[in-house]
Amino acid sequence: MQISLTRPDDWHLHLRDGAMLEAVLPYAARDFGRAIVMPNLVPPVVTVADAMAYRERIQAAMPEGADFTPLMVLYLTEQTDPQDVKAGIEQGVISAVKLYPAGATTNSSSGVRNMANVMPVLEVMAEHGLPLCVHGEVTDSDIDIFDREAVFIDRVLDPLGRSLPELRVVFEHITTKQAVQYVQEASRALAATITTHHLFINRNAYLAGGIKPHYYCLPVAKREIHRRALVDAAISGDPRFFLGTDSAPHTDANKLQSCGCAGIFTSANTMACLAQLFEQEEALDKLEGFTSLHGPAFYKLPPNQSQITLQRHEAPVSFGSHIDTEEGPVTIFDPLTPIYWDVVRSD
Ligand code: DOR
Ligand code: ZN
Repeated sequence: MQISLTRPDDWHLHLRDGAMLEAVLPYAARDFGRAIVMPNLVPPVVTVADAMAYRERIQAAMPEGADFTPLMVLYLTEQTDPQDVKAGIEQGVISAVKLYPAGATTNSSSGVRNMANVMPVLEVMAEHGLPLCVHGEVTDSDIDIFDREAVFIDRVLDPLGRSLPELRVVFEHITTKQAVQYVQEASRALAATITTHHLFINRNAYLAGGIKPHYYCLPVAKREIHRRALVDAAISGDPRFFLGTDSAPHTDANKLQSCGCAGIFTSANTMACLAQLFEQEEALDKLEGFTSLHGPAFYKLPPNQSQITLQRHEAPVSFGSHIDTEEGPVTIFDPLTPIYWDVVRSD
């Protein structure tokens, strides 16, 4: 069996820089038409000039003939200049701004501590319809890590919606039924991305039967009832939910240590995994909406013109265990279930 879809987009992707960028970009560019490129480099992408320079480095690493457009994102800090954001919007350089609560995740130390200090930037964004992508976790050490997303809704996301209801917000990589429900019930322009890995794994994946660093990411995967809520949202056809893989490569050396990095590399097999999941859920007819239509609609962009074709095979497909990079091997996400699909064609 084969299915053809409008070429998908990845609304949350870490491409990194340098040798890692060279190694991972071909995987994203193979299956996706566009990606919202995360700005948490070291140092982060904080100005429009930084975003233009990063976009050039991405273009320089682009495989020949690729049909892939990086959509650039600014990393919001308490020093971000509203005029720079305005210029970036008017010049068409930036597609979103990213809010990292300071200390929430990889390279987030320059993020936001006090929302009041970024309101002038958010007001400019609201006026121009530029989406704010939000890492939705509080960082307080007294809040249990499994509760940090749900608490973020009450302490940050809901108050933000009340003070600036016109701001378009993407609640990134949601992991809880509370987040699903909050998005479903919102009356403002609020959408959510869901990752590939959070649709497959619950917290047993990294905690049961030994500690499994390759399943450690942020926000951490939660209980099975939460995974189930994410799957139901993804297959529902509700346009407020769309794919953002959060594919976040780290070398095995950086993952397999006493304080290992958060992140799962899924660019290599995301579309195959999603076809498998949607087939199992008898929802293959909803796959294109989730991967290719809902995201562009929220970002006010046309869907891609081209298509990709996925094939279902008789035997499980092997995607390999890792990719090689100049910095060392990077493990490919293992969905813990056989995958019978792969992408056979892009046109
Ligand atoms: O698991 C994650 N990895 N979550 C994030 O929010 C950041 C990302 C990274 O950059 O490695
Ligand atoms: Zn991310």
